[in-house]
Amino acid sequence: MLLDTKPVSYMIGNGALDMSEKGLLKYPRIIMLVDENVEKHCLPVFRAHLPDVKIDHVITIKSGERGKNLEQSIHIWDELTRLQVDRDALFLNLGGGVVTDIGGFTASTYKRGIPFINFPTTLLGMADAAIGGKTGIDYGAYKNQVGLFVDPVSVIIDPIFLNTLEDHQWQSGFAEVMKYGLIMDRDLWSILSGQDYHQLEDWDKIITKAARDKIDIVHHDALEKGMRKNLNFGHTIGHAIESYYLMHDKPITHGQAIAAGMICETWISSKIFDIECTQTDEIVEMIDLNFEKFDISEATIPELLDLMRQDKKVREGQLKFSLIRKIGKATHDIEVNMDMVVDSIKYYINRNSVH
Ligand SMILES: NC(=O)c1ccc[n+]([C@@H]2O[C@H](COP(=O)([O-])OP(=O)(O)OC[C@H]3O[C@@H](n4cnc5c(N)ncnc54)[C@H](O)[C@@H]3O)[C@@H](O)[C@H]2O)c1
Repeated sequence: MLLDTKPVSYMIGNGALDMSEKGLLKYPRIIMLVDENVEKHCLPVFRAHLPDVKIDHVITIKSGERGKNLEQSIHIWDELTRLQVDRDALFLNLGGGVVTDIGGFTASTYKRGIPFINFPTTLLGMADAAIGGKTGIDYGAYKNQVGLFVDPVSVIIDPIFLNTLEDHQWQSGFAEVMKYGLIMDRDLWSILSGQDYHQLEDWDKIITKAARDKIDIVHHDALEKGMRKNLNFGHTIGHAIESYYLMHDKPITHGQAIAAGMICETWISSKIFDIECTQTDEIVEMIDLNFEKFDISEATIPELLDLMRQDKKVREGQLKFSLIRKIGKATHDIEVNMDMVVDSIKYYINRNSVH
């Protein structure tokens, strides 16, 4: 089984960066991975807070999804080889989901694996991508096509890095934060509900709750055989919307797509599980408050369905959804027929949003 079962240590919240010093000083050699933006915005913060931690070498990759491919992996392996990095070295991923995904993958495959630590610098990374041991790269036209489950030694989550994050990246991560509220954390949902994310203040608490929710899920189901699938709420239709815009040269953020997917999948949930109308209204209003509605037409639905059929969640031609039974409770592997999927997208297209 390609899974490192050693326990992962987590430090989460304000001050976590400073507290990570002791653990880092144990390593004889540290190689850091960043992308171009993180090098500019986050590396100076890291160095200012941890002046005694000696970084032997910084490897920089392209920013965004174009940094998560085989070409960039080869660049990283070449650098590690040139620097004669050995297995007692630490690979330190400082960045968003792209850096932690490719960094975990290249570290785990170089010389059959060197230890790595994730320091996420985006909201999405802190609440989701840096936690749970999924590492990998995109290959050909497919996202996350090559990779493996390997846990980092530690994950250090300090909101200090978010000061320089662009607004649309905050928004993108916020979709995943909302998702935890909907699938498992009524308490988190009550902090968020009715709020525009720009107005929220206690991000330390929000990020800590979201990260703990993800840790809890992966602790119980590391290999996504059961409850980890609940994390896919909003993602079956959301991924199709994300791929559709990518293929039509109008890329949108992951969070924008998932927010739209969560509206459709809330509608499906309400038809299957008889959720109270007040709850579905509350969810849809909350998503509308934080995400603009996409201007998609009914003519795009066949293409969206084709994209869904290629999804990893399709088994024997049947779409399986992760849905909610009510706010704070999700379930998975629910077969949904295509007519209902079509109707949910029509509902998204034809309803009036606040925007
Ligand atoms: N492994 C998992 O479980 C998992 C889960 C969810 C998503 N992902 C992956 O994560 C990736 C998306 O992650 P992301 O949204 O963090 O994207 P990202 O890593 O591309 O970061 C988004 C942008 O923000 C910049 N950036 C990062 N930190 C910054 C900071 N503090 N200040 C200013 N700019 C900063 C980056 O350079 C990039 O341009 C996708 O590839 C997705 O597949 C993985």
